[in-house]
Amino acid sequence: HFSKGINGLDKVILRDSRGSSAEVYLYGGHVTSWKNDNGEELLFLSSKAVFKPPKAIRGGIPICFPQFANHGTLDSHGFARNRFWSVEDDPPPFPTNTLNKSFVDLILKPSEEDMKVWPHSFEFRVRVALGPGGGLMLTSRIRNTNSDGKPFSFTFAYHTYFSVSDISEVRVEGLETLDYLDNLQNKERFTEQGDALTFESGVDKIYLHTPTKIAIIDHEKKRTFVLRKDGLPDAVVWNPWDKKAKAMADFGDDEYKHMLCVEAAAIEKAITLKPGEEWKGRLEFSAVP
Ligand code: BG6
Repeated sequence: HFSKGINGLDKVILRDSRGSSAEVYLYGGHVTSWKNDNGEELLFLSSKAVFKPPKAIRGGIPICFPQFANHGTLDSHGFARNRFWSVEDDPPPFPTNTLNKSFVDLILKPSEEDMKVWPHSFEFRVRVALGPGGGLMLTSRIRNTNSDGKPFSFTFAYHTYFSVSDISEVRVEGLETLDYLDNLQNKERFTEQGDALTFESGVDKIYLHTPTKIAIIDHEKKRTFVLRKDGLPDAVVWNPWDKKAKAMADFGDDEYKHMLCVEAAAIEKAITLKPGEEWKGRLEFSAVP
């Protein structure tokens, strides 16, 4: 189902027979909304988000590719999140079974301008699908289509902004005792101590070798987000907190209280693809009481 979104940008609306739904903007291949059967929004989208190139949309699920944050020479988080993707009607078969599910296939190929900053030819396909029980599934496939025989390397993240009632009441399970790189401390490596993560100040950490399942528990809402991932060994946890929130033009001063980014990613070890090779990264969310 196609529709016009903010500023006339094209979006695709997915609906499940039980009532869950999702919205995907072609700008960025960006999921901006995911609602459960009761119509409750599960993703955070800033009231100040700018739906206009070259700014990436603040909230939802930006796709970071071919570079995560400033881990390289490109602009922060690469360029996939602020390019126009196309709908692909008949993609090569996807590994995941999306029979009877509501889904859309998008594709991004580099423009001549993109190839000036990142001189590689690729096909990036993403399938966004509503899963059973109102879950959301994203499957990315990136193929090296270089004709010069050259491999390329990239880092990647599904930069998901979850909507939470109150950040100080939220707990994340699955990352305790793991090693992480702390972006707030010169990317130094530390080991997480003790219990589930809780939040009382800004956080910007890349957890390494994470389990395939991570849970975000929102006590106040009595809701748990369960995230399952495949091909994505790292997990970024980010909340800007008050000072950084104030410094961001496209983010409300108090909005940090109502969001948490938990990003399934491949960062510490870049993915390298030879011509003809394809990489897959899969993410699946559910929201349970
Ligand atoms: C996170 C990074 O993933 O994204 C942070 O770890 C960064 O360092 C944040 O500040 C937001 O980035 P941007 O470019 O969307 O403002």
